[in-house]
Amino acid sequence: MPGALVTGGTGKTGRTLVQLLRNAGVRTRVASRNPSAADPDAVRFDWNDPTTYGPALDGTDRVFLVPPVENVDPLPLVEPFLHQVQRAGVRRLVMLGSAIVLPNAPSAVEMAAQVQSQPGGVVLRASGFMQNFLRPHPLAEHIHRHGAIRTAAGDGKVGWVDARDIAASAAALLADQGTNARSDYLITGPHGMSYPQAAQIITAQTGRQVRMECVSEQEQAAAYRASGMPTEFADALAAVEHRIKEGREDQVSTAVLQLTGRPPRAFSEFITDHAYEWTQ
Ligand SMILES: NC(=O)c1ccc[n+]([C@@H]2O[C@H](COP(=O)([O-])OP(=O)(O)OC[C@H]3O[C@@H](n4cnc5c(N)ncnc54)[C@H](OP(=O)(O)O)[C@@H]3O)[C@@H](O)[C@H]2O)c1
Repeated sequence: MPGALVTGGTGKTGRTLVQLLRNAGVRTRVASRNPSAADPDAVRFDWNDPTTYGPALDGTDRVFLVPPVENVDPLPLVEPFLHQVQRAGVRRLVMLGSAIVLPNAPSAVEMAAQVQSQPGGVVLRASGFMQNFLRPHPLAEHIHRHGAIRTAAGDGKVGWVDARDIAASAAALLADQGTNARSDYLITGPHGMSYPQAAQIITAQTGRQVRMECVSEQEQAAAYRASGMPTEFADALAAVEHRIKEGREDQVSTAVLQLTGRPPRAFSEFITDHAYEWTQ
């Protein structure tokens, strides 16, 4: 019986997607560099080892694609994978892309176009993840250690989305291949939210005092580098904060509702679900 391959299957979006697809009766293979011995449908997959692409795709007719993470030039690794996806006869391909295009990552746009040119190819352009407020993301680590959101984005807004809603959107597309899908969806939460608003919500709901620590783009880049991010990726992520400050990333859509039949979670609901994060 054909089934799904979920790359990034152990990550924030992928692991929820795996559960949703399995609950929907879709045989689902979890791709990971370290596949779980306890899961007979776990398979080794490493973007840096193209010999793992074919065996992972064998017998699948749908794929969730999480491109190489923290990489400003993913196309050289993804392009050969896409060729194998086509050869395998995959009929639905859903890529986790980003609403924000990193300033020094032009190949991400070309990669999205290549995905959309595949049979059943869909790109989910996800807004900033609410899960960035959970450790080990540097944003969350800083809140935990210093009680502050450190940002260069001022009070610019982002349409923060819960990764669980991205997974639900992807599941709708992958479980029901008859869905009359578009090739591009902007996936956001219900409304735009600034970092100062996020700090207020966390404080009001959990009692944890969270203040703002406004830094320059250069200081933010240095902090990201110090957290272990590759230099080019850290610099690009900090540069995005300037765009957020200018209001250029303040966009929301109704795609989650259209795809899943239910509205996306609000940040307050996300905080309630993860209250333990701020009380320990
Ligand atoms: N955070 C945001 O605000 C945001 C916004 C928009 C888009 N995105 C995009 O979301 C994606 C990340 O998704 P996520 O947050 O759900 O994942 P995640 O929690 O960051 O987990 C990363 C996943 O990638 C896998 N992985 C890492 N290196 C790999 C490699 N060399 N080969 C194969 N797999 C590898 C990991 O699997 P193993 O460790 O098990 O191998 C894991 O499943 C990124 O592409 C990012 O650009 C993020």
